[in-house]
Amino acid sequence: MTDIEKILIPKSQKYPQKCFLRTDGKDVHTKFGVIPRKDVENAKDGEQVLSNRNEKYTVLSPSFIDLYMKIKRTAQIIPLKDVGTIISFCGIGKDTTIVDAGAGSGGLSLFLAHVAKKVYTFDALEENATLVENNAKKLGLKNIEVKHKDVYNGYGKKNADVVTIDIPEPWQVVKHAYDALKIGGFMVCYSPCVPPLSDFLEEVTKNENLLIIHTMEIIERYWEFKERKIRPKSAGIGHSGFLSFVRKVA
Ligand SMILES: C[S@@+](CC[C@H](N)C(=O)[O-])C[C@H]1O[C@@H](n2cnc3c(N)ncnc32)[C@H](O)[C@@H]1O
Repeated sequence: MTDIEKILIPKSQKYPQKCFLRTDGKDVHTKFGVIPRKDVENAKDGEQVLSNRNEKYTVLSPSFIDLYMKIKRTAQIIPLKDVGTIISFCGIGKDTTIVDAGAGSGGLSLFLAHVAKKVYTFDALEENATLVENNAKKLGLKNIEVKHKDVYNGYGKKNADVVTIDIPEPWQVVKHAYDALKIGGFMVCYSPCVPPLSDFLEEVTKNENLLIIHTMEIIERYWEFKERKIRPKSAGIGHSGFLSFVRKVA
């Protein structure tokens, strides 16, 4: 179960930073003073509570995204812009079964489990597999199975609708991903750098029953809105990774 009971949003801030009431029995300590825990516990969603420095906070129950953004992380997680693209381009929904590796911190697999029927996720490191299991419990997800396994030796799964690949040598699992997929299923490779992606696509090309659908990079640009200063933020556009979508046709 999650350790976050409620979220609190400061009323006077235009760009507010959330605070959390946790299951640790403590009051909420904010940068605008302390809020007694009983005030927050007794508040309904949308009600306001006061800190000892007279700052008003709106109380809300946490949604999936509030809890997801607080998961424990070790490895770099796939950002939301890329998660969303994977979900939309593969048409992932309540009937979809997914095979995923490496699990890492569960950034991708946990979000997929939130929208899909079933997710099997694999990691070669036991501590990462345990971390994802714990993160899944905190999010209340019961449709994700985490396995400690090196997928360069295969997944041991069949008939998946989607296989997602985020490991250092993705070309090594093309054959295994093909075996794990149903006909018509999608293989998605996520790679921060070009050489592993290039080797992955070269391996895909050797199998005439795999079609390369798209290779893309999703560019995300945030804007600021301050009175008449309405423009893209000065901070530059960063890079996360490239996505390659492949389909098994026979
Ligand atoms: C960049 S992380 C994955 C991040 C994950 N997709 C997320 O969104 O949180 C890469 C992971 O692949 C795992 N890994 C590397 N080689 C592997 C292999 N052969 N089999 C399974 N997992 C592997 C690593 O232990 C690491 O946790």
